[in-house]
Amino acid sequence: MSIDPAINAEPVLRQRLRIPVHLGVIMDGNGRWAKARGKMRTEGHIEGVKSLRNLVELSINYGIAHLTVFSFSSENWTRPKDEVAFIFNLLRRFVASDLQRLIRNNVRVRIIGSRAGLEPSLIRLIDDVEAKTVDNTGLVLVIAFNYGGKAEITDATRKIAVEVAAGRLKPEDITEATVEAALYTSGLPDPDLIIRTSGEQRISNFLLWQAAYSEFVFVDENWPDFDESSFVRVLEIFSRRDRRFGGIEAQTS
Ligand code: IPE
Ligand code: IPE
Ligand code: MG
Repeated sequence: MSIDPAINAEPVLRQRLRIPVHLGVIMDGNGRWAKARGKMRTEGHIEGVKSLRNLVELSINYGIAHLTVFSFSSENWTRPKDEVAFIFNLLRRFVASDLQRLIRNNVRVRIIGSRAGLEPSLIRLIDDVEAKTVDNTGLVLVIAFNYGGKAEITDATRKIAVEVAAGRLKPEDITEATVEAALYTSGLPDPDLIIRTSGEQRISNFLLWQAAYSEFVFVDENWPDFDESSFVRVLEIFSRRDRRFGGIEAQTS
């Protein structure tokens, strides 16, 4: 893919692009990237982590406030055991190797998803990275790991039911804000833009509630090939979208 070299100029870019406040990314196509090169799927996942590092840097440089990346879904447990174990190890290694850099870059890390079924040592690692970055004020990096939108809404429903059963909440007092507060993403704005790589055009259980009014951009590149030119091209597409939120006039954000 080629882009107009003129838009590489920073100030021009800034004027032209609308920057999402919250960007969601379904990082798909690691396996196909590897297969196309005669490599093992695991090599695709390793390249995928490099692409994630690059995306974090791009998000900081372009002034994105919140970035949520889908890195392991609750349905990905159906993959071969070895692949699942490899992806889990990659998360551990990413956290261990990148923690200092994330701290230096003022990134706050939040990991969303179900903790049920995760090993205690992994849970400790997740808690540790969240605690060590909690005071950072720059990019909020949300890693959706062992995450499923249906599981999230189910968990939220259970939390609310407990409150009702205990007499602390009346059913008639349940509002959208009550549900939002019970989701893993509580306190985060909804994503204004969701990108999915690899040519697939589906949501695959990512941020079901939060994506109610997100713009979607699907790109053909597999995740390891998603680079700055892909990123800029997506932001250009997003900048031209007319967001109406059910109304009749274009809204700017
Ligand atoms: C995305 O790449 C990473 C995860 C889902 C963990 P895939 O592993 O889904 O790659 P494809 O879709 O098989 O090419
Ligand atoms: C979605 O990709 C999940 C992640 C990117 C982590 P999948 O590869 O699991 O999605 P499907 O199975 O093609 O819908
Ligand atoms: Mg896939």
